[in-house]
Amino acid sequence: MASIKELPTAPARRFERIGAHTHIKGLGLDENLKAVKIKDGMVGQERAREAAGLVVQMIKEGKLSGKTIILAGPPGTGKTAIAVAISKELGPNVPFIQMSGSEIYSSERKKTEILIEAIRKCIGVEIHEMRKVYEGELTHIDIRTAPHPYNPYQKVPESVVLTLKTQNEEKTIEAGSTIAQQIIQQNISEGYVIQIDAETGRVVNLGLSLESAKGKTYEIDTRRKIPRPPGKVLKEKEFVYTLTLADMDEINARQRAGGGIFSLFFGGSETKEIDSEVRTAVDEAVKKMVDEGKAFIHPGVLFIDDSHLLDLEAFSFLGRAIESELVPIIILATNRGITTIRGTDVKSPMGFPLDLIDRSVIIGTEEYDADSIREILRIRSKEEKINIEKDALEKLTEVGAKTSLRYAVQMLSLAAQNAKRAKRKDVTVEDVERVSKLFMDITEAAQHLKKYEDKMLIH
Ligand SMILES: Nc1ncnc2c1ncn2[C@@H]1O[C@H](COP(=O)(O)OP(=O)(O)O)[C@@H](O)[C@H]1O
Ligand SMILES: [Mg+2]
Repeated sequence: MASIKELPTAPARRFERIGAHTHIKGLGLDENLKAVKIKDGMVGQERAREAAGLVVQMIKEGKLSGKTIILAGPPGTGKTAIAVAISKELGPNVPFIQMSGSEIYSSERKKTEILIEAIRKCIGVEIHEMRKVYEGELTHIDIRTAPHPYNPYQKVPESVVLTLKTQNEEKTIEAGSTIAQQIIQQNISEGYVIQIDAETGRVVNLGLSLESAKGKTYEIDTRRKIPRPPGKVLKEKEFVYTLTLADMDEINARQRAGGGIFSLFFGGSETKEIDSEVRTAVDEAVKKMVDEGKAFIHPGVLFIDDSHLLDLEAFSFLGRAIESELVPIIILATNRGITTIRGTDVKSPMGFPLDLIDRSVIIGTEEYDADSIREILRIRSKEEKINIEKDALEKLTEVGAKTSLRYAVQMLSLAAQNAKRAKRKDVTVEDVERVSKLFMDITEAAQHLKKYEDKMLIH
């Protein structure tokens, strides 16, 4: 069995790496899709938020297919924040993948291959499966061994007799060597609640039963404890798990490559590139499951930052991709005005081909005023559990207004670190001043480097 895991209780995985945006919980709109000044971790930027709200509504109604969203605005004005908010508004099972336009350039892999993989990582497939399982607290276990067929001096597990107990019944079953081996490998003994798939024989250790002798004795025990399951020992259970199309491609490719003796030793061959045959097969299988009501698709959000770094080939690939059936919401962010489209010498708005712009909705973000910067810093300090004095917040707000919001957000963490170093609980003006002296903003860094430029050139 490959890496499909049943996750009976855990929530669906999310796929984010968005440390600086953890405070964003949504777009912060009211029921009429009007922006509330401060809501869901969002501050100001009302026009962009309301536009994004309409876009979300259209996505939910399936009216945005074949289109991309472009977020255009200067650095640090919340383009990434809005993309994160859009994915939050779409629901809890929605994957969010962030990449930079520059990531498509690799010496080992084709650009389109990198994009296809990113796209497939953004499509969540929630699979519902009814399976027959034996489930209960293990009250008695007897593993029978037999001599090894090739080495009679060695004994191997041959079969196992298990007694499983639920709140309603107790049942004894006998199983073969593969189940016996899994039980030994997982160190399962009396007192554990286990689940055995009736068809595949996969054994899952669910935790120690609260009613068992072991569960009662060891007070300070880190093992997970759960109540003895209700109902019958043999039952039909619904399993729900969310995989992405990329996960399914990988599992499928492994299964195809596997089977040989080497996969026994090495756990399947490493497949770097997944061929299109595998992807087609996965798509077909998924569509069939959806038709049968066994799976639900959750198209996620693929956010490509600095999209002006994509080139013509990538743009035309994306143009084709958004026409296909299994496609995520693609959000392209850029801070460029008129610039050349990479891979050509044609100039165009944002460096995007015109036919792509034609098929996009464009949302602009604007620079923040001091009030918004102050509020965002306040929210960030709460998020990072930083106590900041009023004057210090004012000072940081000034910094943000003078340089950029993103710089001020970074300074906040650094100032907190400085306060911690000085063993102070609250961040003070001195902390902000000290880190402002220690670190450079972009303008300062540029001037600094300019000073040395001549020297470095002559060298
Ligand atoms: N309107 C907003 N409300 C709350 N936080 C914001 C807002 N806009 C930006 N931020 C936060 O400010 C920081 C910089 O914004 P970011 O989204 O990275 O800008 P961009 O992607 O345009 O360069 C991030 O931590 C972001 O979460
Ligand atoms: Mg960004």
